[in-house]
Amino acid sequence: MVNIGIIGCGHWGPNHIRNFSGISGCSVVACCDLDNNRLNHIKKIYPLVKAVSDYKVLLKDKSIIAVVISTPTSTHYRLAKEALLSGKDVLCEKPLALNAKEARELVFIARQKKRILMVGHVFLFNSGIQKMKEYIKNKTLGEIYYMRATRTNLGPIRNDVNVALDLAVHDISIFSFLLEKEPVMVNATGTKILRKNLEDIAFISLHYPGSVLANIQVSWLDPRKVREITVVGEKKMAVWDDLSATDMLRIYDKGVIREPYYDNFGEFQLLIREGEVAVPKINATEPLRVQSQHFIDSVLTRKNNLCDGNNGLSTTKVLEAVQKSLARNGEAVKV
Ligand SMILES: NC(=O)c1ccc[n+]([C@@H]2O[C@H](COP(=O)([O-])OP(=O)(O)OC[C@H]3O[C@@H](n4cnc5c(N)ncnc54)[C@H](O)[C@@H]3O)[C@@H](O)[C@H]2O)c1
Repeated sequence: MVNIGIIGCGHWGPNHIRNFSGISGCSVVACCDLDNNRLNHIKKIYPLVKAVSDYKVLLKDKSIIAVVISTPTSTHYRLAKEALLSGKDVLCEKPLALNAKEARELVFIARQKKRILMVGHVFLFNSGIQKMKEYIKNKTLGEIYYMRATRTNLGPIRNDVNVALDLAVHDISIFSFLLEKEPVMVNATGTKILRKNLEDIAFISLHYPGSVLANIQVSWLDPRKVREITVVGEKKMAVWDDLSATDMLRIYDKGVIREPYYDNFGEFQLLIREGEVAVPKINATEPLRVQSQHFIDSVLTRKNNLCDGNNGLSTTKVLEAVQKSLARNGEAVKV
């Protein structure tokens, strides 16, 4: 039995408690939050889970093998470091840390202490994104030309990090997963509307090796909740819409072909090719459940996981370049 402790029971933490509680061979034995209202809320739903206000109680408890850190981003590094040093395996919410230096140190400690470190890049466990990856890998889409992500909503508004660290982190991790490459350069512009120090809206361009361009639009000041990714390939195009109940993934058999002109030797005309739209069957499973199971498997087998510390570190490096570019009003920054 893997005994788990959850640190942070705000908006997201209870989802971890619910998912880990549903996995056989795993038991959520304790949780912690600084806010008593949150603890009382958890006690009502999970009366058997010990609820405390000091995370050190969880770290000192020898029966707890792993902890989940679901506190604000600015606390991830400190709490994850302490948890790893206490001998716990750690699943840390995204992003792993505020910058690459902190993330690198966490990876180092995890290796030194032989602890499992995983980051909650939950969209890598989304069945639509996994299907998209399958189509890219088996060349159904052909060579990838560009990718575009939109992630908007009205809130939730964070107080410790800007919208890039909070939301674009998902799309950066998805793009790297799909392409199996890291971007080499970024440009990002953003605007601070609600507060003077944090961007609420950001437009980010990522340049990948092989001239693949990707763009991310993120905002927590938008009338519509959108979670969409478009991947345009040489042969086909794909659109993932996380909020669609019926067609989470659509594959468009569309493209542009180059035909030689008959009367003008050596020149080409570009013709639009409009084919059918396919909606592959996708078994929708809750991505957080799959992520939780993946973490438990990793804890039991001591094998690396899909979003291990290094994966969290590489996303943090990209985010650090994004922060620099935002500060320099869109200047190109190498990753
Ligand atoms: N993967 C996803 O899709 C997803 C979605 C939402 C949030 N998140 C991540 O989850 C984390 C939490 O987000 P949230 O929306 O629940 O935030 P939240 O502010 O609603 O909750 C955070 C909770 O942590 C508690 N806390 C802060 N410091 C603590 C400490 N030292 N010890 C114990 N408790 C402490 C706070 O009291 C609060 O209740 C963030 O890192 C966020 O990025 C991930």
